[in-house]
Amino acid sequence: MKILILKGSPHKNGTTNTIVNEFIKGAKANKNNIIEEIDVAHASIHPCKGCDNCMMNGPCIQKDDGEMILKKILESNLVVFVTPVYYFGFSAQLKTLIDRFYSKNMKITSKHLKVIYIAASWNNDSKVMMAISEHMDILSSYLEMEEVGRILAKGAGSPSMINEKYLFEAYKLGKSL
Ligand SMILES: Cc1cc2nc3c(=O)[nH]c(=O)nc-3n(C[C@H](O)[C@H](O)[C@H](O)COP(=O)(O)O)c2cc1C
Repeated sequence: MKILILKGSPHKNGTTNTIVNEFIKGAKANKNNIIEEIDVAHASIHPCKGCDNCMMNGPCIQKDDGEMILKKILESNLVVFVTPVYYFGFSAQLKTLIDRFYSKNMKITSKHLKVIYIAASWNNDSKVMMAISEHMDILSSYLEMEEVGRILAKGAGSPSMINEKYLFEAYKLGKSL
């Protein structure tokens, strides 16, 4: 299957990218998987202007990397959202891209994409993933995406802090595809 990985951290060698690298190792075991990574955090993506020019299904007036990424999403079978937890939610870098889904909303819902979420936080308490988890749930539901996995790595403020269990979980999830 075509797997598109959307990396939402500005840290190229940070926590979430370390975890997703394990996922990729696992997913590469199946030679039928075609994996593409996009460094969303370093792409040129401007926020949705809410101009409604697209009317939720037309071309966006903004000519930046957003359009190219949306096209790739629509060509994929599985999208992996990868994000550090920023103030209990997705990173602004990734959320800016998600807002740009607006111009392809109906096309995305009709694809019934499979989706995986990978997030990491510094804190390790019971509340730190509550809001982002709710957001993942409602996003999948609204966009009619089928979630096939979620890794919420708590207490993982830097690569050296990552509990091995999350790396293994990521590898296993990739391998299951
Ligand atoms: C702007 C900002 C906001 C953050 N907000 C939170 C937060 O709400 N809760 C938390 O536990 N960690 C928070 N962190 C820490 C990161 O989620 C954590 O260090 C994560 O491992 C970084 O992943 P990365 O290396 O892939 O970017 C924040 C970090 C930044 C820079």
